[in-house]
Amino acid sequence: MRPDVVVRGGTVVEAGWSGPADVVIAGGRVAALAAPGTAPPAPTVVDATGRLVMPGGVDPHCHVGFTSGDFTSLDDYRACTTAAVHGGTTTIVDFAIPRPGENPADVAYVQRAKAAEGLCDSALHACVVQWDDTVPEQLAGLVADGVPTVKMFTTYSGETMADEDTVLRTMKTLAALGGMVVIHCEADHIIGDAQQRGADAGRIGAPHMAATRPGLAETASVAEILAIAESVDAPVYFVHQSTAEAVELVAAARRRGVRAYSETVAHHLVLDDSAYRGDHPERFVCCPPLRPADQVRALGQHLFTGEVTTIGSDHCCYDTAQKESRSADVRAMPNGLPGVETRLPVIFSEYVVRRGLPVTRFVELTAANPARTNGLYPRKGTLLPGADADITIWDPSAHWRVTATALHMATDYTPYEGMHLTGRPTTVMVRGRIVIDNGTLTDPTPQGRHLKATLT
Ligand code: URP
Ligand code: ZN
Ligand code: ZN
Ligand code: ZN
Repeated sequence: MRPDVVVRGGTVVEAGWSGPADVVIAGGRVAALAAPGTAPPAPTVVDATGRLVMPGGVDPHCHVGFTSGDFTSLDDYRACTTAAVHGGTTTIVDFAIPRPGENPADVAYVQRAKAAEGLCDSALHACVVQWDDTVPEQLAGLVADGVPTVKMFTTYSGETMADEDTVLRTMKTLAALGGMVVIHCEADHIIGDAQQRGADAGRIGAPHMAATRPGLAETASVAEILAIAESVDAPVYFVHQSTAEAVELVAAARRRGVRAYSETVAHHLVLDDSAYRGDHPERFVCCPPLRPADQVRALGQHLFTGEVTTIGSDHCCYDTAQKESRSADVRAMPNGLPGVETRLPVIFSEYVVRRGLPVTRFVELTAANPARTNGLYPRKGTLLPGADADITIWDPSAHWRVTATALHMATDYTPYEGMHLTGRPTTVMVRGRIVIDNGTLTDPTPQGRHLKATLT
């Protein structure tokens, strides 16, 4: 096949290796990696001299237009994926979370249809809140239809919390079907008690967020869920782990043979609980909360030890007005931070540039492993021949300052406002089409596809 596009002169970075190579693209896929200067002529030639050529980022944890309590986050597929591609991410994995009375499969099929509005491809996690006799059949249908990952929560009682029996049954059923539970772990009874003590003491506003959701609640819940997974021999993926202790519990289980995976998210690796003592504490309210600086350092170490599997964003796009409207009581606040656009630049700058994380490990954590654990590899998360030509060309030495007004998320703030970063995407391709050129959106055409995932 004649190439459509050739990316010349760059350094290709994969999860396990990096080196100079040209990338030959035909029919929206990588056709070949060629020795530098040997790629055949093509109608479009992209010069990547001095740049890194990486598989587009895969964000395994991204809430699009998410309704929780009284609030709905402010983006849709078009807005979220526009921000994603500006930040070098070319695949997102969203959630279909049922509201009371809704069933998991219906919600997933409605959400899946929105993928076509995206500028890049997306996959979906379904969600089980309550067990009933119809759940096994719904899960079987979802797995067969390419939605093998199912989100569960051990917190948010009265909303999306599932009891232990429901977690066990869902894990067991999914394991037999080739699916996997992905789970938010915070022991709700410990949190409820901490919140009540805060409220009694008049310390329940956003500045007190960290104390209302202690790290112990996460440790306790992770231990229990691991025990359930081990007892039924089911795989389990822990989302947004915010403490080293939680990651270490998962690593210890993995050493015993449990198929358990740790996701961290950018804000827990970079920001700390001093944000709750600043001018806009409500802007940093998320679950689990930001942790003390020494704990952030300990968590970050596990990017180097290999014990963290993936880095997501937990993107949840509320604005300041939504956050401020309930900031006097964290129990009623919209939780979550905008981050789909900043995930890659923040982690690259803080960990690759400042702390020496190998750039190959960066690609592993932010693209290859998210694709693998979500059943999207090798179509996504790699530039090996046959993969979709989702490519992020990265200037590793660009210096820039983060400011919300220059970002593209559907909100008026970024938790990283004013941070000086090194490294950013310059050119981004989705299935061989250049959507970002020199940092500017050049192709706003919706071309998103819902990806059918298969866990191996
Ligand atoms: O605070 C958070 N993380 N909000 C989004 C929902 C969730 O728990 O992941
Ligand atoms: Zn969560
Ligand atoms: Zn404020
Ligand atoms: Zn989340």
